Amino acid sequence: MRKVVAVPLGVVGLGLTGLGYASIVERNWFRLRRFDVPVLEPGRRPVKILQISDLHLTPGRTRLINWVRSLSRLEPDLVVNTGDTISHPDAIPAYLRAVEPFLDLPGLFVYGSNDMYSPHFKNPARYLWRTSKTDSKKRNIPDLPWLELGTAMTSAGWLDMNNTTARLKVGDLDVAVGGINDSHIDLDRYDRIAGAAPAEADLRLGVMHSPEPRNMTRFAADGYQLLLAGHTHGGQLCIPFYGALVTNCGIDRARVKGLSHHDSAWLHVSAGLGTSPFAPARFACPPEATLLTLVPRVAR
Ligand SMILES: [Fe+2]
Repeated sequence: MRKVVAVPLGVVGLGLTGLGYASIVERNWFRLRRFDVPVLEPGRRPVKILQISDLHLTPGRTRLINWVRSLSRLEPDLVVNTGDTISHPDAIPAYLRAVEPFLDLPGLFVYGSNDMYSPHFKNPARYLWRTSKTDSKKRNIPDLPWLELGTAMTSAGWLDMNNTTARLKVGDLDVAVGGINDSHIDLDRYDRIAGAAPAEADLRLGVMHSPEPRNMTRFAADGYQLLLAGHTHGGQLCIPFYGALVTNCGIDRARVKGLSHHDSAWLHVSAGLGTSPFAPARFACPPEATLLTLVPRVAR
């Protein structure tokens, strides 16, 4: 074969191989990440929080559904779903099948924009120069069954944490929770939960979909000790040894996923478990759920 033909064919072949890997292999290569978070008073028994996020479920994702079910072996004390759960109007039964082993446990959830608005095809490269915030703003009427999704969870006893506060028992911990709806589509109303979180609680937990710094600063200032978010997909298509190109919100690239800090609070951002059905690929950023084990602070 002449060199002038072989080189372009080689590039095309490499591209197709990469696309196949990202959409078939890595997209289904679910990982469990584990972090210890030293946030409890000395002497307290460790407590396990399972965070799931960004499932973007469609009815046929059997591997994902079964993998989430398998996490029941971790025996978490609390399950937190940080939103973008469904991507299809008929996905609620699939979601309930995924979380069925956890519905008897304490649970919390917030919505993400994708729970309200069905996915549309978009140029994936647009994230390089802007976030998807304006895409959702153009749409006024939710076309996904977000209320039914919420009711399915609240009727099992999970708490709807969209722009509200709550108090619950997790193991032997008294937990104060503050949550907000998705800032990505301007549904966050931090003013409704503003004020010092109860100082006497054993844990003050903040929950949101998009890790927007202006909200996280307020959570931390109000005394919330651990903040949980999703939304970023960890960058979704990442560069090996470099990381995410974009975060799709105001947070910096260094904190696009994993455990970090925001002011005085611990922050965990989940890279999530799914993708938009119109961008079904992950590269150097496997889908994940996280087990956060809360442990006592080291006594000084
Ligand atoms: Fe998402």
